[in-house]
Amino acid sequence: MSKNVLITGGAGFIGSHVIRLFVKNYPKYQIFNLDALTYAGNLENVKDVAEAPNYTFVRGNIKDVNFVNSLFKKHSFDSVIHLAAESHVDRSIKDPNAFIETNVIGTSNLLNAFRNTCNGNFENKLFYHVSTDEVYGSLGKTGLFTESTAYDPQSPYAASKAASDHMVRAFGNTYHLPFIISNCSNNYGANHFPEKLIPLFINNIKNSATLPVYGDGQYTRDWLFVEDHARAIDLIFHKGKVGDTYNIGGFNEWTNLDLVHLLCKLMDEKLGRKQGTSAKLISFVKDRAGHDRRYAIDASKLNKELGWEPSVTFEEGLAKTIDWYIENQEWLDNVTSGAYKDYYEKMYG
Ligand code: NAD
Ligand code: DAU
Repeated sequence: MSKNVLITGGAGFIGSHVIRLFVKNYPKYQIFNLDALTYAGNLENVKDVAEAPNYTFVRGNIKDVNFVNSLFKKHSFDSVIHLAAESHVDRSIKDPNAFIETNVIGTSNLLNAFRNTCNGNFENKLFYHVSTDEVYGSLGKTGLFTESTAYDPQSPYAASKAASDHMVRAFGNTYHLPFIISNCSNNYGANHFPEKLIPLFINNIKNSATLPVYGDGQYTRDWLFVEDHARAIDLIFHKGKVGDTYNIGGFNEWTNLDLVHLLCKLMDEKLGRKQGTSAKLISFVKDRAGHDRRYAIDASKLNKELGWEPSVTFEEGLAKTIDWYIENQEWLDNVTSGAYKDYYEKMYG
């Protein structure tokens, strides 16, 4: 079936993997990639599909209501997969309003424009909102986030994502707009901007620079290979129940410190350095304000209802990721020049 699918944030980390998968697997869909190309957006991430006949890139900002309305009028999208967001917790601590503007107002602009162009006819229409496990807050030593866990966001980023999830459900309830939401755990893989833990530490190990571990390093995250997240989005988009929520996770919990030691070991192997060399770079630094202690996702609903499970182990995914960063030095050089240097200086001194 042919359709016009708008994917927002397709030049970013996860969005680029979703774009690639949809452009390649669904030649009958016209895929529109709407991205403002902020510091996190990079057309290099999707260069392999740039010339595909079913792909169009549109540079634009979801905060700009007039632009969003005219884009929806022009293309009458059948479906939206919404990933565009400000996504880094540390940046949200420094500048919360930027997160409200893009994540809340921007999402509301898209919802309004979609509702208006559908004009009451929602047959075969879908607004798929990509969200995060951070909306659920922080776990103690035990327990998992399920789809019915109450929202309890703790950082400005998490609060802005929670608000956007609420807006999506409110449009479903009030205007019968067909939606699906998925909440995913921490992703890792190629094209990940090196402000986030895994790519930052890979880059620093390559450069023999300090590895700044926040607090005691005992914070726990549940890691998922980004291509497995993209596969889950594909499955939920096509087979998920409208009006439902799906949690996506890797069944793969690691404390930051254990993860950093594993990264150091793998990097020493890959770079031909003596074991123990990279671990000497670890430095405990001031903790993140309001740092969530533990996230862990119960992804059993997605597994039972739609048969999804991660396709790679963490060790396989990490090895692929490290190889990608070693082979793509030019990508790293490009994204770490200019504004990144100022950010790094302000953040880590
Ligand atoms: P990212 O920061 O790598 O990419 C975000 C993209 O959105 C960039 O290409 C950027 O240019 C674009 N963008 C930002 N503001 C925009 C605006 N105002 N208008 C148009 N485009 C704009 O983010 P990511 O890590 O790929 O995350 C994508 C989505 O997935 C986000 O909604 C995030 O909350 C969610 N998510 C991320 C993770 C993760 O581990 N990274 C986990 C769960 C959910
Ligand atoms: O859980 C999903 C979320 O995962 C997504 O919604 C976010 O967009 C994504 O950025 C990610 O958030 P985190 O805050 O968990 O990821 P980050 O890579 O920033 O940090 C992972 C852990 O590592 C966290 O406990 C903080 C710690 N950390 C991070 C950095 C950047 C450090 O110890 N040192 C660092 O320099």
